[in-house]
Amino acid sequence: MWRAHDARRKPASSAAASGGASRRSAVEPFLAMDVLAAAAKLEAAGRSIVHMEVGQPGAPAPKAVLEAARAGLHDGRLGYTEALGIGALRQRIARHYGEAYGVDVAPERVVVTTGSSAGFSLAFLGAFDAGARIAMAAPAYPAYRNILAVLGLEAVEIPVGPETRWVLTAEHLRAAHARRPLDGVLIASPANPTGTLTRPEDLQALIETAAELGIRFISDEIYHGLVFEGRAETALAFSQEAFVINSFSKYYCMTGWRVGWMVVPEAMVRPLERIAQSLYISVPELSQRAALAAFDCGEELEAVKEGYRRNRELMLQRMPAMGLEEIPPVDGAFYLYASVARFTNDSTAFAGRMLEEAGIAATPGADFDRERGHTTMRFSFAGAQEAITEGLDRLQRWLA
Ligand SMILES: Cc1ncc(COP(=O)(O)O)c(C=O)c1O
Repeated sequence: MWRAHDARRKPASSAAASGGASRRSAVEPFLAMDVLAAAAKLEAAGRSIVHMEVGQPGAPAPKAVLEAARAGLHDGRLGYTEALGIGALRQRIARHYGEAYGVDVAPERVVVTTGSSAGFSLAFLGAFDAGARIAMAAPAYPAYRNILAVLGLEAVEIPVGPETRWVLTAEHLRAAHARRPLDGVLIASPANPTGTLTRPEDLQALIETAAELGIRFISDEIYHGLVFEGRAETALAFSQEAFVINSFSKYYCMTGWRVGWMVVPEAMVRPLERIAQSLYISVPELSQRAALAAFDCGEELEAVKEGYRRNRELMLQRMPAMGLEEIPPVDGAFYLYASVARFTNDSTAFAGRMLEEAGIAATPGADFDRERGHTTMRFSFAGAQEAITEGLDRLQRWLA
């Protein structure tokens, strides 16, 4: 099957030694995507697989989004757009901050990106020079450290656990900076893989501490809208110097459309525009036109969220009884992260067996936490309720 940490096992000492690939390309595999590929192979061979590996809404994009895309196709002419995104979409995104958080954002500070994924590379390139050190929690979304590594930046992973409700705090930041100075800090709230929320007052403390220490703050707000306990505040409520990264992928059910956005400090807009112009010219016009309709689909999207809420309850009811332990508070997003230490100390092999023997695709914790993730797993509950129920039944039988 797949292997964790391919890159670490075979450090490329030179381009030639790694079969022609550059040293910077020697990043670790994104295991959730590897599980997805292995599951697809089994499905092609006729096996039934319950997908709990990727954070992908089971629901299609809202009707008005599909309508807008059909209209775009009907017009036929799809071209390059402004590198920062079409004006109407930038304005609509800016308006969203007034509506959702009561925060004023100038449309000129909005940068439309190819999913939040492109936002990260753009933000990192625009904000940091090679060698910069960026702090983040461990566990965290694995692409952060991989993108940083590809760009010649250093991910400084700070272990978090139950003592801080699994969130990175101002104290963590201060201590890490004192050990060796940091240039940036990146947090997600609600977070992936834990689902935990950084409370508004803790977010404010983190942002103020970062400002005091001269550390650039990056806030991944991709799971905003998917909050079940507490309230997600935008970093823009506390700072106009933060980079805020968001996406239409999760709450808006548009993963495959590859469209997201950033709100950036005013002085960063032109530098980012210059990089975007040359890196990818523009975000696909069809996706941008379709995304314009997404903010007005609240009713439909709230109904999808209710489905996640029911799945979450099922997971929280059943999983602890199966021996899955130390589950961080699932405040939001659509993941449950749990210790499987009772069953294994090799989560990657465990995920492989779970897929082969039980027909459940889930992600080994090694993806999110290189030090402690060998005894944890992440299960996504973004799928349909029937699928989640079937997954839980299979898991219960398999672990019994
Ligand atoms: C925390 C987090 N940030 C960013 C992304 C990337 O999403 P996209 O590029 O589809 O916007 C994901 C995807 O799972 C995620 O979990």
